[in-house]
Amino acid sequence: MKKQWWHSKTVYQIYPKSFYDSNGDGIGDLPGVIQKLDYLQYLGVDIIWLSPIYQSPLADQGYDISDYYQIDPRFGTMEDMDHLIQAAKERGMYILMDLVVNHCSDEHQWFKEAMADPEGEYGNFFYLAEKKMGRPCNWRSYFGGSVWEDLPGTEKQYLHMFHKKQPDLNWENPKLREEIYKNINWWLDKGLAGFRIDAIINIKKALPFRDYPADRPDGLCSPDVMLAHAQGIGAFLEEMRDKTFRPHNAFTVGEVFNEKPGELEQFIGDQGYFSTMFDFNEHMIGRSPKGAYADRDVTPEEYKEACFKAQEKIGDLGFYSTLIENHDEPRGVSHFLPAGQVCDAGKKMLAGLYFMLRGLPFIYQGQEIGMENIKFSSIDQVDDISTLAEYDTALAAGLSPKEALEAVGRSSRDNARTPMQWDAGPHAGFTQGTPWLKENPNFLEINVEEQRGRKDSVLEFYRRLIGLRKNKEYQETVVYGSLIPYLREQENLMAYFRKGEGQTLLVMGNFQKDSQRVILPGNTKKVLLNNLETWKEENGLAQMEGWQFVVLEQ
Ligand code: GLC
Ligand code: CA
Repeated sequence: MKKQWWHSKTVYQIYPKSFYDSNGDGIGDLPGVIQKLDYLQYLGVDIIWLSPIYQSPLADQGYDISDYYQIDPRFGTMEDMDHLIQAAKERGMYILMDLVVNHCSDEHQWFKEAMADPEGEYGNFFYLAEKKMGRPCNWRSYFGGSVWEDLPGTEKQYLHMFHKKQPDLNWENPKLREEIYKNINWWLDKGLAGFRIDAIINIKKALPFRDYPADRPDGLCSPDVMLAHAQGIGAFLEEMRDKTFRPHNAFTVGEVFNEKPGELEQFIGDQGYFSTMFDFNEHMIGRSPKGAYADRDVTPEEYKEACFKAQEKIGDLGFYSTLIENHDEPRGVSHFLPAGQVCDAGKKMLAGLYFMLRGLPFIYQGQEIGMENIKFSSIDQVDDISTLAEYDTALAAGLSPKEALEAVGRSSRDNARTPMQWDAGPHAGFTQGTPWLKENPNFLEINVEEQRGRKDSVLEFYRRLIGLRKNKEYQETVVYGSLIPYLREQENLMAYFRKGEGQTLLVMGNFQKDSQRVILPGNTKKVLLNNLETWKEENGLAQMEGWQFVVLEQ
């Protein structure tokens, strides 16, 4: 694998709507991000990924773009954006935007033109079919129901893999592709470092449209089945890379869930379509094909195995991006730590275990202070369209409203979208007005102000993790050292070596509330990181406290 400038960095994801509201309208914005750059610098992150801030009706919170060349006024202006890029540069930081090009908004000019004249040029920017033929296929959209929707005022219907306000763009049309590349280059010319690339695996459809066996009582099939049948996405991705990212030497991270076996190298090898892609393997554990209501909890053993298998799969051919949460997932600490046992030590252990894997660590806003899932008391508190669809699926499966809320609340995307908890003041210091989404009541205890400078806080532990990644004495090993599991069979222990040139680090987390004994492979030279005050080691035997996490130099 060739070394790249970004390998040693740490990325921070901002969900702008919920990050910091500078003008009291209850919606986070770009001036708010600029005001918090000092904080991000204090934390030590280098690359900032902004979830979408383009003009949008916000049906899917900005993942439905109605103008790729405009900033939505609710988030600020183009001047704010230019200012942010500049201010980040001055701090040695990099800005990534979200690239959402599988679909646009039904309020985009292209779609309006297609509606006005389906036979005209813009009709071919989308997937349209005659209504009178019936639904061309039985694919289920990611947000529930058929992927087909009637095109208002016409004899046609259109395809949407996501919400009906997110019509899919027809990548088979070279004119559409050129429009997209033009836009990407326009943004890169502004000085962006690159993009996080949304739902990109969906741009290639299995054509011609056909039914697959139904997998739920609704008679539809999972969109994943279609993806498994789609062939030839590589040609699109190569073209996009060569016409946009490569000439700009841009950094890209793909949201890729369903690459086919053996495709990893084409995606993120040295000559790959993207710089890196997310390791979602841990996030797929326990997911039920029936719907979110039937998902089950993740055990520590499953988590460990998923991490190790992903590491084995990627080996030295590239760099995964590692994460425990993002804007589409519940809070990592609520999801991966056993229910009822979430505590600061456990939060730090989870942080350390994923952060020290070989890969590029991503931190999602609020993760660094250990923000947790919110408890919904009514479905009216839920904003996210995906959760609402999952709630309906749960009701249809026979759950009571209370059970359905409880079940889908656990994995709701809104868990991650509650306002960032800055301080213990009104609305967690997020806004002077009324937040667009209710804050988590635990902000009184969990907030930045309380943790900043408190030596044993979760926030300060994240700073130490980032610090170790930057420490010149260990950086080479932390970033590039090979990963070798240790005592893989020992239950509720996740341990691995990171081996570099003449240097070995041993990373260990006791993934349970009880203490456990661990046989050490050799003498410890130095304890580089410890999430507790003490470390008990004698004659090659360690006594690890519940949730203890250490990085030892061997
Ligand atoms: C991605 C985004 C998610 C969005 C979907 C459709 O998965 O992360 O938030 O709803 O794509 O754009
Ligand atoms: Ca605002």
